[in-house]
Amino acid sequence: MTMAETTMTAAKSDVNTETPILSVKDLVVRYTTGSKSYLDAVRGVSFDLYPGQSLALVGESGCGKTTLGLGLLRLLPRLGSVPSGSMTFVGKNNKPVDVLKLGTAALRRWRWEEAAIVFQGAMNSFNPVLRIGEQMADTMKAHLIDGHKPSKDEILDKSAEMLRAVRLEPKQVLPSYPHELSGGMRQRVLIAMSLLLDPRLLILDEPTTALDILTQRAIVDVLGELRERLGFTMIFITHDLALAAELADRVATMYAGRIIETGSVRDTFQNPRHPYTAGLINAVPPVTGDLPNLASIPGSPPSLATLPKGCAFRDRCSYAEDKCAEIDPELEMIESRLAGLSHTAACINWQQVHSPREVVTADA
Ligand SMILES: Nc1ncnc2c1ncn2[C@@H]1O[C@H](COP(=O)(O)OP(=O)(O)OP(=O)(O)O)[C@@H](O)[C@H]1O
Ligand SMILES: [Mg+2]
Repeated sequence: MTMAETTMTAAKSDVNTETPILSVKDLVVRYTTGSKSYLDAVRGVSFDLYPGQSLALVGESGCGKTTLGLGLLRLLPRLGSVPSGSMTFVGKNNKPVDVLKLGTAALRRWRWEEAAIVFQGAMNSFNPVLRIGEQMADTMKAHLIDGHKPSKDEILDKSAEMLRAVRLEPKQVLPSYPHELSGGMRQRVLIAMSLLLDPRLLILDEPTTALDILTQRAIVDVLGELRERLGFTMIFITHDLALAAELADRVATMYAGRIIETGSVRDTFQNPRHPYTAGLINAVPPVTGDLPNLASIPGSPPSLATLPKGCAFRDRCSYAEDKCAEIDPELEMIESRLAGLSHTAACINWQQVHSPREVVTADA
C-alpha cells in the first residue's frame, strides 16, 4: 500500500472536529542535570489533538519524543519537571481539566481511566514475579468502574475481553508469568492492559521497535482493529516513518525538543516543508528503486544542554543561510485544514524545500 492509499484509509476514521480532546500549549519539560544546570528536552511544544485522531510523533533518537509522552501523562522521572506550559484534557464527562493542576489522587484516577501509556522498552513494565492475570487485576482494582469497585468476575471478564481483543488466548495468558510469553505477546498484553479502563487517549512509545517484522505487522494490525472498535485517540511515538504513515492521520516531526513540522500524513510525507522532515524521508530505504537515491542527514543533533542561538537544525541544513543563526522560527501556516490537520513548518526557507520521493508503508 502506498502512503496515499493509507492516508485515504486513515481519513475514514471518525474525527470529531469541534473540541480538541487534548490541547497542549507552550509545554516545556526540563531535566535537572546538576545543582545549577538543567536541559529542556521539550522546548515549547503546542498542539491540539481531536477525538479519534491518531498523531505520530517522529524524529531522531534523543529529540524528546519519550519526554513529551511522559510529560503529557505527568510520569516524568524525579529530576524531570514542567516549568511552564499548559495541557487541557476533555474527559469522558466532557469537562475540560487542567492536567498540570490535578492533585495526586485525581491524577492517579485520570491515568488509566482517561489516558494511558504503553512505555518504550515495555518489557520492564511487568512485575516478573506476578502472573499476567494478577497484574491486570491489580490495575483494575485501584479504579472504579461505572462508579463501583469491580468484582472478581468483572475483572476477569474485562481482562479476558481485552486479551481476546489483542488476539491472545486468555486461558493461556492469564496464568502465565511475563517470562513465559514471547516479546510480541508481552507487547500485546501491555496494549490490552493499557485499555482495561477504556481511556480516551492512548500513548504508545515505540511499541514495535524491538520486535521482528512479522510480529510488528501483527501489532500494527491489532492497533488498527482496536482503534476502529474502541475509537480512542492515539499518540504513536516512532522513528519508523512507514509505521507512522500507516497508523496515523497526522504527523508531528520533532527536532531538538521542538515540533518543527506538523500536518496530515499526506501533506507531511508528500510535500514536506521542513528540510529535516524532507531529510528523514530521503533516508528511508525505498522498497523499489535505486539504493543510491538514499541520502542520510549529515552531522548529528546538537546537545540540548548547549543549544546555539537560532535554528537548532542549521548546521545540518543545506538550505541554511546567515539569518538562520539569528532566528529560531516558529511554526508557520502552510496549508490551513480542519481538526488540527493544518500543515505548518518552522523554517524560514520552507518555500524552497523540495518534495522528496514518497514514503512507502511497511506492507507495500
Ligand atoms: N532522566 C533524564 N535526565 C536527564 N536528561 C534526560 C533524561 N531522560 C532523557 N534525557 C535527555 O532528554 C533528551 C530527550 O530524550 P528522550 O528520551 O525524550 O528522546 P527520544 O526522542 O524518546 O529518543 P529515542 O528515540 O532514543 O527513544 C535527550 O537528550 C536525553 O539525553
Ligand atoms: Mg524515546
